[in-house]
Amino acid sequence: MYNAKAYSAASATSPLAQSTIARRDPTETDVQIEILFCGICHSDVHQARNEWSGVMPTVYPCVPGHEIVGRVTRVGSAVKKFKQGDLAAVGCLVDSDRTCPECRAGFEQFCPNMVLTYNFPDKHLGGVTYGGYSDSVVVDESFVLSVPSNLDLAGAAPLLCAGITTYSPMRHWDVKKGKKVGVVGLGGLGHMGVKFAHALGAHTVVFTTSPGKKDDALRLGADEVVMSKNADEMARHAGSFDFILDAVAVEHDVNAYIQLLRRDGNLTMVGAPEKPLPVSVFGLIFARRSFSGSLIGSIAETQEMLDFCGKNNITSDVEVIPIQKVNEAYERVIKSDVKYRFSIDMASLKSA
Ligand SMILES: NC(=O)c1ccc[n+]([C@@H]2O[C@H](COP(=O)([O-])OP(=O)(O)OC[C@H]3O[C@@H](n4cnc5c(N)ncnc54)[C@H](OP(=O)(O)O)[C@@H]3O)[C@@H](O)[C@H]2O)c1
Ligand SMILES: [Zn+2]
Ligand SMILES: [Zn+2]
Repeated sequence: MYNAKAYSAASATSPLAQSTIARRDPTETDVQIEILFCGICHSDVHQARNEWSGVMPTVYPCVPGHEIVGRVTRVGSAVKKFKQGDLAAVGCLVDSDRTCPECRAGFEQFCPNMVLTYNFPDKHLGGVTYGGYSDSVVVDESFVLSVPSNLDLAGAAPLLCAGITTYSPMRHWDVKKGKKVGVVGLGGLGHMGVKFAHALGAHTVVFTTSPGKKDDALRLGADEVVMSKNADEMARHAGSFDFILDAVAVEHDVNAYIQLLRRDGNLTMVGAPEKPLPVSVFGLIFARRSFSGSLIGSIAETQEMLDFCGKNNITSDVEVIPIQKVNEAYERVIKSDVKYRFSIDMASLKSA
């Protein structure tokens, strides 16, 4: 065991503050990573503040962070894919049982015994796992990803959650040229959704509550932008979408979007609001539409997404901040005042 520097929340109402946490010494299959950048996901805010208490209550102290890129500092004797000095990345998953039907089918994210990067039981040290707001992390090599060398690292970090969470459902629902695709909420996830839908060749429409984001949406790859509070603009798209990805973090009217789907169209939720959302069944049955959800993506698909980003030069649009600004950043995430992801420069933790 060794001590690592981190930023943690001591309770649902305390700001994050500097602390020291224990990390395990690398086992023979582990990779130790010096963290260079870590993105701030809205899930970090939900969990630091225990907003998902009904599903996964937060254990304190909580060290958030699951959009991690860094450099390998040590590897265990059995590690094959990584060596000291390599770039490496870690997303939301750090382990699973590897034996259940989901794991065997290559869907670790649905494993009943998966281990998330933070706030999940830590098999090695007891207590819970600690995330990427830290100077280092130790992860089994099976859950460590390779980062294409052409990508800017600050902008690559958010690919590990915002990227895979939007890429995976788009691949599953066959987003491609000839399809009309909507993305609801131009935040961290949403702006990656726009980049992927555009790169996959779909006609891409952004739904936003923020008039000031229109030009950005077009620059990011949208073909059209709809102000979701304007009923006339919404009505013009009735019954026309093959697929809509909803990345909104708070309660909102999903039925307004279900009405925009064509026959057999699908609306997938990746946004995870604290409270249940009412869904009108009539909106579904009259056109055999479906309403579904999606959780991050598997390790293999995350690597596929990173390689796709390497090839297409896709990264997240980031505002790089020092860790000391994390509490201010959380307030701005809540106000939708971020273009379009915060990426923490972890060098700032060294000097703290
Ligand atoms: N399923 C998964 O695996 C997964 C993975 C990661 C995150 N998540 C969840 O996905 C959600 C989004 O995460 P994020 O990091 O992208 O958050 P974010 O950056 O805060 O983006 C959310 C966006 O929702 C829109 N929005 C905010 N308030 C709204 C309101 N009152 N009504 C309608 N739209 C509103 C805003 O876009 P506009 O300004 O354009 O309206 C905002 O930028 C969170 O709930 C997060 O926990 C899920
Ligand atoms: Zn996330
Ligand atoms: Zn499993």
